[in-house]
Amino acid sequence: MLKFHSVSKRYDDGTQALSEVHLDIPQGQFCVLLGSSGAGKSTLLYMVNGLVTPTTGQVEIGGKALNRANMKSIRRTVGMVHQQFNLTPRLSVAMNVLSGALPFVSYLRAAAMWYPRVLRERACKLLAEVGLSPEHLTRRVSELSGGQMQRVGIARAFMLEPQVLLADEPVASLDPRVSRDIMVLLRDEAKRRGTTVVCSLHQPELAVEFADRIIALKGGKLIFDGTPEQLVAAGLDSIYQNNESKPAPSHSVPHVTPQMLEALA
Ligand SMILES: Nc1ncnc2c1ncn2[C@@H]1O[C@H](COP(=O)(O)OP(=O)(O)OP(=O)(O)O)[C@@H](O)[C@H]1O
Ligand SMILES: [Mg+2]
Repeated sequence: MLKFHSVSKRYDDGTQALSEVHLDIPQGQFCVLLGSSGAGKSTLLYMVNGLVTPTTGQVEIGGKALNRANMKSIRRTVGMVHQQFNLTPRLSVAMNVLSGALPFVSYLRAAAMWYPRVLRERACKLLAEVGLSPEHLTRRVSELSGGQMQRVGIARAFMLEPQVLLADEPVASLDPRVSRDIMVLLRDEAKRRGTTVVCSLHQPELAVEFADRIIALKGGKLIFDGTPEQLVAAGLDSIYQNNESKPAPSHSVPHVTPQMLEALA
């Protein structure tokens, strides 16, 4: 249901972030993306919600190729969970969750923060599902712990009842126990609804525990696509080894060039 047809991305500065990635992800699959920093994980994720446009190749959701004309309608079928939660701290938990439905309400209603009853009911149900109590509804997000914030982020992402949920390092800023709780929640909520998930992680052990399928990128290329068991058998070395970077000689002195100074002016 989610397909990447030989997608490549070259950013304006010439960085080749992805090269010829081909993937076919069935409905309801929980896919985890692994790869060292700069491997291209976020670039691949952001192609699904249109924040990054492939230089070549195509992304297809539910049989429809993503293009400028259908971007707005397709975006409504794609939810997103962020590393830094991306919530509005001064607003209440309830308002943050409801804001996930903004594409469904008129501009005037959104400005007045007035949401129809059906959406308010959905928000309450979701908050209970993610383990927040009624007292949390009116609390400001800034008063929550990181784990609670991500629960709000997950509830918000499901407000749109998405077909696809993207999660870019959703547990990067959380401690190991809370990280696991959040992964359990993400997987269970997605499985209950049959939502396809593509989630990038820097914790291979969580990938092995939670993924149906693990995809690894290196230097923008797909280097592994298989089950957690296959990844364990293959070993992680090839994913995280960095053959390209050579350590700087110990006697080297950092050199400040006029171009660097100009870039900061
Ligand atoms: N807007 C941009 N303009 C230019 N280069 C970019 C841009 N965004 C990302 N890149 C580069 O593209 C490559 C892939 O970046 P990307 O953010 O997709 O990696 P990542 O796997 O998500 O890394 P991390 O684990 O650190 O989040 C990197 O070399 C990065 O510097
Ligand atoms: Mg990233």
